[in-house]
Amino acid sequence: MNSNKNLTGWQRFLQKMTKANEIGKEEDIMTDHDYDGIKELDNVLPPWWLYGFYITIGIGIFYYVQVFTNSEKYSQKEEYAAEVAKGKAEVEAYKKANPELFNTDVKLLTDAASLEAGKKVFTTYCVACHMADGGGGIGPNLTDDKWVLGGGIEKIFHVISEGGRPGKGMVAWKSSIKLKEREQVASYVISLQGTTPANPKAEEGDIIWTKQ
Ligand code: HEC
Repeated sequence: MNSNKNLTGWQRFLQKMTKANEIGKEEDIMTDHDYDGIKELDNVLPPWWLYGFYITIGIGIFYYVQVFTNSEKYSQKEEYAAEVAKGKAEVEAYKKANPELFNTDVKLLTDAASLEAGKKVFTTYCVACHMADGGGGIGPNLTDDKWVLGGGIEKIFHVISEGGRPGKGMVAWKSSIKLKEREQVASYVISLQGTTPANPKAEEGDIIWTKQ
C-alpha cells in the first residue's frame, strides 16, 4: 500500500477506489504460482469495480421485486393493453372531433330540397367535367348504368370524397365540400341516372349498377 502522506484528497480517493499495489512492491503480493517464469500477483478486486457489481445486483433485486410484485404495472401484456386502450380512446376522440371525416352512415336522399341542394353543388363543382346534365366530358357519363368505380350511394359518396384513380382527374372533394353537401350531390348524381343527356359520353366501366 502507498504510504505517501502528501497526497491530495482526490489522489487518496483514487487510491481507495483502486487499492492498486504500489509499483516496486510486487513482492508483497506475489503468489507462489509460477508458469514458465511468469508469476502471478494476488491483486484485490478494485473497489470501484466491486461497487459497480454490487449496484447491478441491487438494481437486479429491485427490478425483480417490481416485476413480480407489481406485475399489473410492469407486465408487457398489461402495458400493451394499456397502450392499445389509450390509442383506441384517441381514435374515438379524433372521430368525435372530426365527424366530417368519419361518417360512414351516408344515406340516399330523395327529397326535393336535398336534390336541389345537390344540384347546386354539382353546378358549382362538377359540371366542368361531367356536364350540367351529367352526360360526361372529361369525367364519365353519370346517367348510364355503367360505372368505373362503383355505383350506389356509398360508393359514389366515397368516390366524391376520396377521388378517382390517381391521375384521372377526379380529385377528392372531402376537404372542399362539406359532408352533408357530398351526401346531397351523391344523391343528385344518382337522381341523374336514367335521364337522357344532350351529348351522352359512351359508357365506361365494367360495373353495372342501376338504382331501384
Ligand atoms: C376535373 C374534372 C372533374 C371534376 C371537376 C369532377 N370530376 Fe368526377 N370524375 C372525373 C374523372 C376523370 C372521373 C373518372 C375517374 C377514374 O376513372 O378513376 C370521374 C369520376 C366520377 C365518378 C365515378 C364515375 C364512375 O363511373 O364510377 C363520380 C360519381 C363523379 N366523378 C362525381 C363527381 C362529382 C359529384 C363532382 C363534383 C363534386 C365531380 N365528379 C367533379 C373528373 C371530374
